[in-house]
Amino acid sequence: MTRTTNPSFSNRRSQIAGLSVAELAQEFGTPTFVYDAARIAQRVADLKAFDTVRYAQKACSTLAILDVIRRNGAVVDAVSAGEIRRALAVGYQPEGAPPPIVYTADIFDREALELCVERQIHVNCGSPDMIDQFGTRALGREITLRINPGFGHGHSQKTNTGGDQSKHGIWHEELADCLRRADRYGLKVTGLHMHIGSGTDLEHLAQVCGAMEQTALSVGPSVTNISTGGGLPIPYQADQSYVDLEAYYALWNATRKRLQEKFHHAIHLEIEPGRYLVAESGYLIAEVRAVKHQADNLFYLLDAGFNNLARPILYGSYHPMAVTLAEEGRSVVERDVIVGGPLCESGDIFTQEEGGFVAKRCLPEARVGDFVVIECAGAYGFVMGSNYNSKPLAAEVLIEDGQAHLIRRRQSFDDLVRNESIPNRQ
Ligand code: LLP
Repeated sequence: MTRTTNPSFSNRRSQIAGLSVAELAQEFGTPTFVYDAARIAQRVADLKAFDTVRYAQKACSTLAILDVIRRNGAVVDAVSAGEIRRALAVGYQPEGAPPPIVYTADIFDREALELCVERQIHVNCGSPDMIDQFGTRALGREITLRINPGFGHGHSQKTNTGGDQSKHGIWHEELADCLRRADRYGLKVTGLHMHIGSGTDLEHLAQVCGAMEQTALSVGPSVTNISTGGGLPIPYQADQSYVDLEAYYALWNATRKRLQEKFHHAIHLEIEPGRYLVAESGYLIAEVRAVKHQADNLFYLLDAGFNNLARPILYGSYHPMAVTLAEEGRSVVERDVIVGGPLCESGDIFTQEEGGFVAKRCLPEARVGDFVVIECAGAYGFVMGSNYNSKPLAAEVLIEDGQAHLIRRRQSFDDLVRNESIPNRQ
């Protein structure tokens, strides 16, 4: 499971998982997210040293993707009633050991509370109120506590989920109070969970082990399950590398072993990644619809925008990009270009840095009708899409065993307005 090498990205691409990009675009239209099932399988397998791989489905919760995850032996995390229902819809059982579905959140909305109580879904409480709300409805059940250890780190301040600026988790100093609350309802704290941020690094992830050990010792031997949370980064650029998974596992395994010795029983070790499992499997294919100069700047304007992939505008995230010529064989030079989308908003630029500063990317010269493939778009891509500017949500396609399957058809205009009504009109 050592994945420490840097990836190599090319700014030309003709295929995805062995299938022609131009043919995929022709068959399914653009913009379309295409996922490579084999890549997801490989990433789940990378983590097999951990007792349980729990997929944080918020990264990409499309049913067919969840089904790939399920077939590869991983279980799931859910952050909403909708995500619980998605997990049930693909065949995860509500109950089991380890629980196939865990609801992890900082609140229960009324629907989620009802589902967790009625369907026996294991809950991971991120606030003292959750303990009370669950406890009054589900006396005596087992629960997990999500602890905010007082520090955190993410690829952006917006993805840092630890420390006192974060709304996430039970503040570590509130632990004793929360244990008393749990006790009041006979809830048994069997699990502990810490997730300090998304897209962090080994140095920060490693600090969590010590905090987990301390917390588990404070809770005592009722603890049988510890979760590292997610946060594993992936390389979006050639100078970035994978986290040394063996070193990461070794740290957690040592923590688990020390706890086992203290508690004299087995401790189950979970990891809960989202990005790591699906980011690299996903590609957003868009068509170039305009190529224009603004003074010295050359823009490629695509039919995909931040309504399809919001990470650049939200975090200044970098995604690798490649050009696919509509007809191979044309000889092309490379240009420094700015790549943007169709939306009526200046921030609709894929090549931007944090703070909204426009950056340039060296890409092959493209014409209208060529394609730009935005890569590493499987995590927090489709799921963060919107209908801004009345754009339909993109189509999604899964490539498995050399076959392309439409797993979500593009929204139609009827889909867009389905729930709307005009007063006093039939
Ligand atoms: N567990 C919990 C409790 C989480 O809140 C998250 C992510 C994960 C696991 C999975 O984290 P991952 O392994 O994917 O880093 N939209 C942002 C990322 C937000 C992450 C939210 N929570 C982005 O596009 O970078």
